[in-house]
Amino acid sequence: MNRSIRILCISGPNLQLLGTREPDVYGRETLSEIHARLAARGEELGVDVEARQTNHEGTIVDWIGQTADPAPSSRFAGLLLNPGAFTHSSIAIYDALRAVALPCIEVHLSNPDAREAFRRRSQVARACVGRVAGFGGDGYVLALEGLVRWLSRARRDPIP
Ligand code: DQA
Repeated sequence: MNRSIRILCISGPNLQLLGTREPDVYGRETLSEIHARLAARGEELGVDVEARQTNHEGTIVDWIGQTADPAPSSRFAGLLLNPGAFTHSSIAIYDALRAVALPCIEVHLSNPDAREAFRRRSQVARACVGRVAGFGGDGYVLALEGLVRWLSRARRDPIP
C-alpha cells in the first residue's frame, strides 16, 4: 500500500487519563503508549497514523470536518474514532461523519454493550463501517488493521 496514505485517530473526553482511569475497565496502558503502537503498526502496514485527543465535542467536529478540506495536508483516507462518552450523545459528531463520508471505525477500550444501559446506544455507529470494542488498547491496533484491509479492498490493492 502507498506510503502517502494517512489515517486520523481521534480519542475523545477523559482518554488522556488512560493508565490511571478505572484500570479495571480501561487497562493500564496510557494513550501515548497506544499512539506509539499505532505508529509502529502503521509503519508495518505502510500508512501514516496521526493520533489526537481532545475533551471537547466541537473540536472533534472540527477535526472531522477538516478532513473534507482539499488541501493535501488535511487529507486522510480513513478515521479511527473513540468518541468516549460522546458516543452515546453526540448527533453533531454523527452528522460530521456523515458530512465527510470518510470510512470510520468506532473504537472502544471497554465493551460498552456489557456495561450500563446508557452505554448501549451509539449515536455514531450508523456512520461507521465497523466497530472494535472490549480489547483494551489492542482495539486501536485491531481497528487500524481492519481499516487498512477495508481500504485495500475498496482500492483493490493486495491486502497487507
Ligand atoms: C469508551 C466507552 C464510553 O462509554 C466511555 O464513556 C468512555 C470510554 C471506551 O473506550 O471504552 O469514555 O469509549
